[in-house]
Amino acid sequence: MSEEIQNIQWFPGHMAKTRRNIKESLKLVDAVTEIIDARIPISSRNPELASIIGNKPKLVLLNKCDIADESATAKWMSAIEKSGAVALPVDCKSGKGLDKYVPSVKRLLAARLEQLKAKGMAGKTLRVMVVGIPNVGKSSFINKMAGKVSAKVEDRPGVTRGNQWFNVGGGIDLLDTPGVLWPKFDDEKVAQNLAFTGAIKDNIMDLEELSYNLLCMLIKDYPENISERYGIDVGEYYDPYDIYEEIGRKRGMLQRGGHINTDRLSAMLLDEFRSGKLGRITLEKV
Ligand code: G4P
Repeated sequence: MSEEIQNIQWFPGHMAKTRRNIKESLKLVDAVTEIIDARIPISSRNPELASIIGNKPKLVLLNKCDIADESATAKWMSAIEKSGAVALPVDCKSGKGLDKYVPSVKRLLAARLEQLKAKGMAGKTLRVMVVGIPNVGKSSFINKMAGKVSAKVEDRPGVTRGNQWFNVGGGIDLLDTPGVLWPKFDDEKVAQNLAFTGAIKDNIMDLEELSYNLLCMLIKDYPENISERYGIDVGEYYDPYDIYEEIGRKRGMLQRGGHINTDRLSAMLLDEFRSGKLGRITLEKV
């Protein structure tokens, strides 16, 4: 992992501000929707979030499920539901699964809805705060949900300035997170997973090392995907670096002297993983 990542200094300060903002805004909502990347459900969560939101009901959106491993997503869903939250796999790029969002919020808040009904306030709008680390698809989610109904609700009194409310129909308003919820960069494995998915900018990474590490993980967990995509029988190789080079050769990425152009190879491998061309892959298992 590059030194720059380990040296990122701004994490604690920014997180403290976001923590305060979230805590303040929690008083205004009935529930929290946490968006995570279904390919890296551990690394794409902020580990402090649980303690920040306490016992506020939580719905976890496993986003990007179109490019995550379906069976892994099913396992993550049941693990999340066992922990007491409601889980919903979605693809916020196409909008697939989002029709289940409103019913899922209502399932999560069934007790609250009963309570409101008993008080004669059955039509009261439910308010949900949306949180997620950068790149999980928070804007895509809000755009898709709010796009249908459109209305951006005015800033409400008592809320940190700049907090944005969106009416998404079905009696639900969404509150975009105040502040940026940073991931846990200081754990090298987490930082690497975030880099694989493109959540950490490539210009601070050693791309050859990154793409090679990704390939090693894929050879172990998804060998058929590699064999199929690149026409290589992964099982015939002993050293993963030979597979790395063979992929470069197969793709004609040679430079003078017959050496592999590892810049091009790295970029291609990362891009094909990120765009789903290598198939549906989940890097973190339950
Ligand atoms: P953020 O607000 O949480 O930072 O995330 P944002 O919505 O900007 O999404 C980050 C990237 O993830 C975008 O790609 C977006 O298109 C993609 N994305 C979001 N949801 C999904 C999903 O469910 N499936 C897939 N496959 N991709 C998703 P980008 O390359 O940065 O932008 P663009 O070229 O797609 O516009």
